Amino acid sequence: MNDRTDYNNLLKFEPLNEGNIQYRATIVNDGKNCELIGLDNKISPSDNIEWFKKYETEKTKYFFIVYNNGEPCGMVGLMNIDPTFKTGEVFIVLNDAAKGKGIGKKSMDFIMDYAKTNHSVRKIYLSVLNENTIAINLYKKIGFSEIKNSSLVGELEMEKSI
Ligand SMILES: CC(C)(COP(=O)(O)OP(=O)(O)OC[C@H]1O[C@@H](n2cnc3c(N)ncnc32)[C@H](O)[C@@H]1OP(=O)(O)O)[C@@H](O)C(=O)NCCC(=O)NCCS
Repeated sequence: MNDRTDYNNLLKFEPLNEGNIQYRATIVNDGKNCELIGLDNKISPSDNIEWFKKYETEKTKYFFIVYNNGEPCGMVGLMNIDPTFKTGEVFIVLNDAAKGKGIGKKSMDFIMDYAKTNHSVRKIYLSVLNENTIAINLYKKIGFSEIKNSSLVGELEMEKSI
């Protein structure tokens, strides 16, 4: 894969790196995003750098900054990959200005395609807060279904074969 992946001309997905890591904090800290993704506090610059060092050392997660017309506007990621069962978990967050324009759906399409092509993932899992109806609508729209008997209190677990 190239460093910047063209995707429908306007959207680009760039692997997280030293040059774009600051956008992780800007995007996650925007509006109510922290709350919606279950973080207690906003990400400080020093926490962000520490997180990135761990990310680079462990090499178990694959995150991308989403650019719309050259402007950083979101982050999508793949994590918890299990090569035996060919499963993985995805994550998405957009800054407030980017929401409601179809970028979430296209970014999910990108990360599922990336998971399948580059990591042989065949089933995607995710968990989402029960009250996060916007994200739940998005996931249902793209074919995720609810996993019954979830053990996570206050969260909905979902899955989709890819
Ligand atoms: C969830 C999120 C990624 C959705 O991205 P988005 O770009 O706004 O979504 P899209 O414009 O691609 O819309 C896709 C679908 O999501 C749902 N949706 C989007 N905005 C919505 C809204 N304001 N109200 C209800 N449903 C909505 C709809 O089903 C929509 O399909 P439709 O346009 O055909 O009706 C974005 O709102 C976000 O970053 N939220 C904060 C972080 C977060 O909650 N992440 C998920 C953690 S599990």
